[in-house]
Amino acid sequence: MKFLKAFAAAAALVSTGVSALPKITRTGKYLYQEDGTRFYIKGIAYQEQGTVTQNDPTGFPEPTDYIDPLADANGCNRDVPYLKQLGVNTIRVYSVNSALNHDSCMQALSEAGIYVILDLALPVNGSIDRASPAWTSNLLDLYIGTVDAFTKYDNVLAYNVGNEVVTAPADTISAPFIKAAARDVKAYLKSKSSSALVSFSSTDGDASWRLALANYLACDTDATSIDLYGLNVYRWCGDGSITNYNSIITDYTDFPIPSYFSEFGCITSPPRLWTEVPALFGEQMVTEWSGGIAFSYFPAVGGYGMVTISSDGSSVTTSDDFTRLATQYTAVSFINTPTQSAAGASTQATCPAKSDAFLAGTALPPTPVNNVCDCLEKNAFSCVFSNTSSNNTSPIIGELLNYACSQLGTLGGSCLPIGADGATGTYGAFSVCDPATKLSYALSEFYELSNRLATSCDFSGNATVLSTAPASAQAADAAASSCASASPAGTQVPTDPTATSPSTQGAASPGATQTGSSSGNNGTKNNGAGFVDARGALITMAASVVGLAGGMFVLL
Ligand SMILES: *[C@@H]1O[C@H](CO)[C@@H](O)[C@H](O)[C@H]1NC(C)=O
Ligand SMILES: *[C@@H]1O[C@H](CO)[C@@H](O)[C@H](O)[C@H]1NC(C)=O
Ligand SMILES: *[C@@H]1O[C@H](CO)[C@@H](O)[C@H](O)[C@H]1NC(C)=O
Ligand SMILES: *[C@@H]1O[C@H](CO)[C@@H](O)[C@H](O)[C@H]1NC(C)=O
Ligand SMILES: *[C@@H]1O[C@H](CO)[C@@H](O)[C@H](O)[C@H]1NC(C)=O
Repeated sequence: MKFLKAFAAAAALVSTGVSALPKITRTGKYLYQEDGTRFYIKGIAYQEQGTVTQNDPTGFPEPTDYIDPLADANGCNRDVPYLKQLGVNTIRVYSVNSALNHDSCMQALSEAGIYVILDLALPVNGSIDRASPAWTSNLLDLYIGTVDAFTKYDNVLAYNVGNEVVTAPADTISAPFIKAAARDVKAYLKSKSSSALVSFSSTDGDASWRLALANYLACDTDATSIDLYGLNVYRWCGDGSITNYNSIITDYTDFPIPSYFSEFGCITSPPRLWTEVPALFGEQMVTEWSGGIAFSYFPAVGGYGMVTISSDGSSVTTSDDFTRLATQYTAVSFINTPTQSAAGASTQATCPAKSDAFLAGTALPPTPVNNVCDCLEKNAFSCVFSNTSSNNTSPIIGELLNYACSQLGTLGGSCLPIGADGATGTYGAFSVCDPATKLSYALSEFYELSNRLATSCDFSGNATVLSTAPASAQAADAAASSCASASPAGTQVPTDPTATSPSTQGAASPGATQTGSSSGNNGTKNNGAGFVDARGALITMAASVVGLAGGMFVLL
């Protein structure tokens, strides 16, 4: 019997048709279970702290590594009883490694009735970089690879395509890239018959850009919109009062998609009493909001943790903070209104106009299929980035890109073909390529415009002449143009990066729409970090390729 039970559980786990937990879907601005009961997220952030480094010019400390909490079967088995004590139905996990096995944790969580909101970004170079935003093939492959590793589980509530990428008006040029990530992940989920939601978590910044960003990510068509909006809210401290939330209730009254607090739990005036919990799940809030994620189960920088794990990892000590949250969470009774039939049709927001506080244009970048980049690498490069001696080449690539593009400018060349401008909606044909390929493009252009002078492909030892270089600069140009014109610009259903052979990878899937922006090379001025004018000179590409977003921290 025991064997049969275990076998049945394993079979249910890997079968896509059988769901242990009910599917959660969107109707109007609310979430519902399959039986029509309204669903609220009552959750906690669940990710051990990675190493944090102050590496962002804007002063954000960001993690530089991570520990995949869903690959730690012992840790999950240790923690699930505590998650049950807390009364949570959801955890939010910020970074996982798709190469590891997550079966044990996902099953333990599912059996405990716990859903997972899974962020797809990784620290350092695995996220959309607010300082130099782009939606590139390496990020798409990372995101899709993670989705692939998790679609077999019944309890993934949502895949989160970004966390706090935008923190100020200048960062709003990132919005088209975030929206494109949502579009492509959504198309991929649909192709896998997954009903998991696609979400984004916003910083609780000034309403002038925060609301425009929310509307932008939820506007136009369902295919290009997030399904679930998260706001990281730290407004209620100490005893607090509903007045702390007044403006975020009214701000989102007309917002048409489900919304929740993707982080909450102020610590500026400890102790944390968690009296915001009855408010969040109470009559005054539930018309606009569908619950939230308390931050955080594990200790996190800033004093946020609710448990301590013994040094050998075997046991958990809970804090008073934990006990108070558990008391509040277990006392919640969900308000089951509106009924699903009264929730209204699912509609999208109206796209916001550009303003001084919101700089993004409406044209989205194309789906970053890799074939255009493979084509470049195989046929058009004469000088390539060769310093891959470090595990984190991002800062070197950023500096070199900055330098190579400015040098290219002095020779009349341009980095526009690798540039992406979210403000004007101008996306170079090679803007979808990963940072190292972009760098090799700039290095090759410089080498060619210098008439292949040996010293012009050196860059202090970071660049090497390719023995397979095209016969001439003209041949290299022709090859690059042919790669650009063969690239399927626009939107398509991404293909599984691991399951497709390189020759067919990125080919448009049957039925794929090609509705995205064109990949014209004639960019104009970029208001943000990046490529400036036809001369190719750069202003602010320092740390350009270092992914700074996607971390798990919120600064107050
Ligand atoms: C990040 O950098 C590492 C090491 O350089 C590389 O192995 C990995 O593929 C990169 N990830 C992405 C998403 O580009
Ligand atoms: C990269 O990291 C791996 C694992 O941490 C290590 O074994 C390897 O030596 C590192 N390589 C370089 C070039 O730093
Ligand atoms: C490689 O590029 C980096 C960044 O510009 C530079 O610091 C370094 O000196 C270059 N090459 C060598 C051999 O160190
Ligand atoms: C690679 O770049 C790093 C950082 O700039 C530098 O320290 C190192 O010397 C370079 N290695 C080579 C082989 O150029
Ligand atoms: C770029 O502009 C030039 C001159 O205005 C024009 O001839 C060329 O066709 C344009 N290229 C693209 C890709 O739009």
